[in-house]
Amino acid sequence: MNREPIPRLPVFGWQSFDGARASSTPCLLSLPGLHYSTSGRAAILLALETLGVGPGDTVLLPSYHCPTMVAPAANLGARVAFYPLDEHGTPQLHWLQQQDLTGVRVLLAAHFFGLPQPMARIRAWCNERRIALIEDCAHALFGRSGDRPIGTWGDVAIASLTKFLPVPEGGCLVVNRGLALPARVPALAACGLGPQLRAAMDIIEVGAVQGRLTGFNGLISGSLGLLRYLRSGGSRFVDTLGGTAEIPAPAAPLSSAERAIDSALAHRRLSAASRWLGRVMPRERIVARRRQHYERLARGLSGHTGLRPLRPHLPADCAPYVFPLWVDQPDPGYVDLRRRMPVFRWDRMWPEVPSLPGDHGRRWSHHVLQLACHQDMSDADIDNFVAALVDLYNL
Ligand SMILES: Cc1ncc(COP(=O)(O)O)c(C=O)c1O
Repeated sequence: MNREPIPRLPVFGWQSFDGARASSTPCLLSLPGLHYSTSGRAAILLALETLGVGPGDTVLLPSYHCPTMVAPAANLGARVAFYPLDEHGTPQLHWLQQQDLTGVRVLLAAHFFGLPQPMARIRAWCNERRIALIEDCAHALFGRSGDRPIGTWGDVAIASLTKFLPVPEGGCLVVNRGLALPARVPALAACGLGPQLRAAMDIIEVGAVQGRLTGFNGLISGSLGLLRYLRSGGSRFVDTLGGTAEIPAPAAPLSSAERAIDSALAHRRLSAASRWLGRVMPRERIVARRRQHYERLARGLSGHTGLRPLRPHLPADCAPYVFPLWVDQPDPGYVDLRRRMPVFRWDRMWPEVPSLPGDHGRRWSHHVLQLACHQDMSDADIDNFVAALVDLYNL
């Protein structure tokens, strides 16, 4: 059944267990050195701690980012500095090497949208300067860059589970190169009974509310809904998925919550239900359906004026997180579109991002819309999405 609104993130249901367990495209969750965390941003914090980053150190970050990529370094007291990106989202290394790199300890590079970046070049650049590399795979749980799986290039790699699996929380870090984790990482605080139950309930409730648990939808959504109403009222996860959560205005300054990181949560173990799904959920379907949706979006959104696919050709050996769409004039239509459709824009920049020569990242923050293309959307969802975008933006 096709329900409105289209879910922004994957949804648990019987379909989650279709297809082959292993994917032909490498998955970060199969790598040695894997540690689960409560989120991608928690994993960045743990990665920085693993690398021993603190006050006096500088962390280099891309000009195109969301605040969750920056907050961990800033909250550890490190200086954050931003580097420009070329038209493919690759760090402009020639610009970086003209800068004073004194105090730079870490460079974070991201596989934006789930499309692999040329990591060999970035790795070599970091090696030459003894700068540690955090490979941000939050958008890229699957893939290969050059001859190696994604997640094996960084000294540490991080990922975000909620973007690929139907879980309310979850991330992971992969520690490569024989680095020792600081004592506290393996000894993350236990996940108490409350968060364990909430996570399990969230997973099942979203599936039932979205009609994906045929035979049990009414029973589950009714009884869990009643339970929540009697106890605390509402699941943030269900709201976020449906797109009813509050959206800050692009021009509004970052709130203290957006700049902060919950250190206790970041040092807590991931709930068993989310870890279990990370282990057992079949992976091939995730890769195959995301690739099909990406290609369908590319076909539907090509050949118009006022909008164009940023990367029309999907590289082999990856599973996209979103489809990046360039829009000439995204406003004022975007805010209303965001309410109706599973679209995101990284317009919440960290305050100190400078205007850098030849940088594409800052322009993307305004013009690039990230369109969901996850495995639990249907072909009809994709077609409705295309129709809404063309209707709004085709000049
Ligand atoms: C590139 C990138 N890195 C890190 C994160 C943080 O991940 P999480 O939302 O799981 O905290 C995000 C979140 O959107 C992201 O897009």
